[in-house]
Amino acid sequence: MESIAPALLRWYDQNKRVLPFRTVSTPYRVWVSEIMLQQTRVAAALPYFERFMQALPTVKDLAECPQKTLDKLWEGLGYYSRARNLQKAAQKVMAEYGGVLPSQVKELVKLPGIGPYTAGAIASISFGEPVPAVDGNVLRVASRLFLDTGDVTRPDVRSRLTKAIHAMQPPDRPGDYNQALMELGALVCVPGGPPLCQACPLAHQCAALAAGRQTQVPVKAAPKARRTQDWTVVLAVADGAVLLNQRPAEGLLAGLWQPVLLPGHVDEAAVTAALQKLGLRAQPPQPLCKAKHVFSHLEWHMTGYLVPVAPAAAPAGHVWADRAMLDGVYAVPGAFRAFRQVLKKCL
Ligand code: ADE
Repeated sequence: MESIAPALLRWYDQNKRVLPFRTVSTPYRVWVSEIMLQQTRVAAALPYFERFMQALPTVKDLAECPQKTLDKLWEGLGYYSRARNLQKAAQKVMAEYGGVLPSQVKELVKLPGIGPYTAGAIASISFGEPVPAVDGNVLRVASRLFLDTGDVTRPDVRSRLTKAIHAMQPPDRPGDYNQALMELGALVCVPGGPPLCQACPLAHQCAALAAGRQTQVPVKAAPKARRTQDWTVVLAVADGAVLLNQRPAEGLLAGLWQPVLLPGHVDEAAVTAALQKLGLRAQPPQPLCKAKHVFSHLEWHMTGYLVPVAPAAAPAGHVWADRAMLDGVYAVPGAFRAFRQVLKKCL
């Protein structure tokens, strides 16, 4: 195959989105943006990125940031362990690399939370190293371009697609080449629905398009079925504040804050009894909407109650959070978004 690079880069130069981590691509900015973009679309990540860079403009700021502040900056992005790893890596960069991110993939992958993809992105985009950076977008583009019907969740398939894509990387613009492939995957060679082949700079080189099979690749093994869990979310409110407790330091949503959460879908009497156990005198619970939250491996099915309670000292392990503290201090996972909306109206 003739190299895809010239047509791809021409397209990229004319069509790339203006993004803050492209306008100024320091290693730190590229690193943070890539971690955010692993779990979020570009449009959704942008406000987080800008706020993060304002609050923590350097590796040192990130290394020294209190956990609570970091969780708050990440609130709603999900996969909070990525933020924790980001900080652990920043601390390691301060301790072992004099505060300067290393430029080579083999050093970068020694840092917590940095795998081959992120390392490749930082090294190629910020340091001009001729290394690949192949994410889900690029795998989709590559599997179509080469009409590779292997299962892209398999390491051997990823590895051969990575090699084939890397082989066409121009040594003078490795970072732009990698980002152009990501951008093509995000804007043209899209997932879920037919790709926009009429707008594709690689259309005449694409084996899947030539065979009319562009919607049949990439092939992906069906993901494992998610477990579901039922929970009851109790918004106990008094004096313009809601009762929160901190989740355990390990496991799902570690260390984040949540309303009183009871296992199963329980009735009013059980809610009143649970609050009484916490030493709170409850008025009759008012049922709220149902809500669902999908994690990568798990689904939460939630029911909820709003329960006015008599003002009292916060029970052990709990805090009363008023609106300002909810907004500025306590990081509450996006899983509770529907209930945050309720609180907005009643705090
Ligand atoms: N997705 C992840 N990283 C990206 C980047 N640098 N450009 C476009 N999409 C991306």
